Amino acid sequence: MPPLNGAAAPQSHAIYPGSFDPPTNGHLDVIARAAVIFPTVTVAVVVNPQKRSPHFTLDEREEMLRRCTSEFPNVRVDHFRGLLADYVKRIDANVIVKGLRVVSDFENEMAAAHMNRSLTNVDTMFLMSDSNYSFVSSSLIKEVFLQGGDISRYVPDVVLEYMHQKRSAHGRK
Ligand code: PNS
Repeated sequence: MPPLNGAAAPQSHAIYPGSFDPPTNGHLDVIARAAVIFPTVTVAVVVNPQKRSPHFTLDEREEMLRRCTSEFPNVRVDHFRGLLADYVKRIDANVIVKGLRVVSDFENEMAAAHMNRSLTNVDTMFLMSDSNYSFVSSSLIKEVFLQGGDISRYVPDVVLEYMHQKRSAHGRK
């Protein structure tokens, strides 16, 4: 059995990784709750999301997150390339935080949690998404917005601004 890491809170440095393309109110809810539990939370933006080429650049995703989390003194925003496990070791974090929205999230997240623990001996702790956001995902937000739907309830104001700017930059109102 690998050695145990010791108590989580109060010394823990938590990493909340993701694509954040763009950040949603669901992400912000997880960040706010993690910031109460852990003394330090690093929100870590993956440079190249595996599933797709990102809608927003890395700089834009980081900037949106910084602006949305400026009220939390113990939250910092960073980015990483490659394996999450390597980044966790590099910044000496001792817990990974993820949000779980629905049961179908669980299967992939369970495999990732086992793999990351096997690679780093760092545990993943799951926060159940607020039920108001259990159906909110970055990909749905983009789809609804690009088809003219109202997403203002699901993203922070800063993100809505960025969505409008990006659409105008692409020549659409
Ligand atoms: O917001 P997302 O896209 O659901 O976040 C997924 C993320 C970034 C957490 C995941 O893809 C990830 O950890 N990527 C880094 C590459 C890696 O470590 N892959 C193995 C995971 S066990």
